[in-house]
Order: sequence, then structure tokens, then C-alpha cells
Amino acid sequence: MKHLIDIMELTTEEIDEMIETATRIIESPEEYSERCRGKKLATLFFEPSTRTRLSFEAAMYELGGNVLGFSEAQSSSAAKGESVADTVRTVGAYADIIAMRHPKEGAPLVAAARSTVPVINAGDGGHNHPTQTLTDLLTIWREKGRLHDLTIGFCGDLKFGRTVHSLIGAMSRYENVKFILISPEELRIPEYLKKEVLDRKNMEYTETTDLEGAMADLDILYMTRVQRERFFNEQDYIRLKDSYILTPDKLKNAGEELSILHPLPRVNEISVAVDDDPRAKYFEQVLNGKFIRMALILKLLEVK
Ligand code: CP
Repeated sequence: MKHLIDIMELTTEEIDEMIETATRIIESPEEYSERCRGKKLATLFFEPSTRTRLSFEAAMYELGGNVLGFSEAQSSSAAKGESVADTVRTVGAYADIIAMRHPKEGAPLVAAARSTVPVINAGDGGHNHPTQTLTDLLTIWREKGRLHDLTIGFCGDLKFGRTVHSLIGAMSRYENVKFILISPEELRIPEYLKKEVLDRKNMEYTETTDLEGAMADLDILYMTRVQRERFFNEQDYIRLKDSYILTPDKLKNAGEELSILHPLPRVNEISVAVDDDPRAKYFEQVLNGKFIRMALILKLLEVK
């Protein structure tokens, strides 16, 4: 039985295979509409979500399956003190596959160790978000036609942004990928990522606070929200939350081929005036999330 807890558990061949499946689903959705007939997905969300939970649910429905679950810890027996391990043992009696989001880093890993059905990490604290990374990889593939030879700028909260951490790991496996890491000093990427991924793999990267200065070099600009829920101190959040606000004016040095991504939700970091720019791809990214999750469900349930 296979789980998905960390994107690095997937080989690049497996990722290619899922991108291929997602592309076939986009082209011929009717061919997939009965593939999960009789199967059930449980969405166990101990933390808020719009895209991840609903795209998982839409994915399972579009594969012909059914969905059950909860969208907040308070409406489950976790509120009475039930452990994650006991929760997944229980849910495994009702569902064929579980997607779990949890505020505690490592909770989906603990769940996978005790589960009788595949567990998908749908985001654990500030740690990882592998299905967002699959979404991002499909989006980059569809926009650029490749996952190599790219310069990617990550901008915003690189300390707590789990989508950034997962995507840096995933992209570090492709040839000639360069990173420009744009953040306030206090929100730089964690040291462990520098040591274990960037330095170990001899990745080319620069750290800067200057978004406009980096713009001309970028193939992809990956904007992120300052993660209010991960701050210990509200004053620090208020001071840092508007560090970067992407406006049409700030894009004047950007190339015509730039793709602007954001895992969403956005708060203030991309002005709505940017939404009409043809380089803004974050709502396409939302849709890609459903297709790649369909491909992932098929893979983990071993449905042909
Ligand atoms: N990108 C993402 O994880 O969005 P949600 O928090 O709405 O699921």
C-alpha cells in the first residue's frame, strides 16, 4: 500500500506518469468518469481549506466515486481527545483512501503508519503540501512544456510557506533549475532546506529582498501569502504581511513569457489588477489541482 506524505517519495518517473494521466483526463474526462465507481475518499481536515478539500472531493466525484469526511477538528472526535492514529484506523473501516490536513507537522506520517488504507498528506503545518506541489508541477508543465531549464522566483513567506518547501524539493531534481528566493530577512527559507536540498544538490540560488530587481530573470514567479496562522506574535505578522504586493507596475521589467503562480488563498500579495494579465496563471493552477488529484487517486488506488 502506498501513501503520499512527502513529494520526495515520488520518483520523477512517477510524477511524469501522473502529469500524463492528468493530461489525458483533461482531454477525455468521459473516459475516467466511472473509474472509481464504488470507492470512497475520506477528507479529514483538521485545518481550514477551500481548494485542497474541494478539489479532492470534486476529483473523486468526477471519477465516479463518493466522498465523506469533516472540514474542521471541532466537528470530529478529535475535539474529545481522540488521537490521529485512532481516527485513521476508524476511517479506514469506512473509506478506501484518506486525504488529511493537520496543523501539526508529521501528523499525516503518524496517520499513514497506522492506516489500513492509503493516506495523502493534504498539508501538515508549515512542513509539506505534496498535492499542491503536484498541482504546481502540472501547471508549470502545461505553461512551459518542461520542468527543466527554468528560473523560478519564490516571493513572500518562504519560512512558513509549506508549498514553497515542497516545490523547491521537487524542482531540485530537474536539470538547470535556478531559484531566486525573495523574502524579508525574517521570512527566509529554513536552514534545513538550504543544507539538505539546495547545498546538497549544488543548486544555483540567490536570496534577495528585491522583487522588482529579480523580475527580468524569471520564467516563473511563485507568490505566497504571509502565513498568519504560523506566527507566534500578531505584531510581527502585521509588520510583515504587506512586504510584497504584486501590482501591474511591478511587472514592467518582467518577460512576456513569465508565468505568475500562487497556491492561493491570496490576501493582499497580488493586486486584483494583475488577474487580467495573461501571465497570471493562478486560477488555471486551481483547476489543475483537481486533475492532478484525480491522477493521484487513480495511482494510489491502483486503478488502471
Ligand atoms: N492551496 C491551498 O492549499 O489552498 P487551501 O488552503 O484553500 O486548501
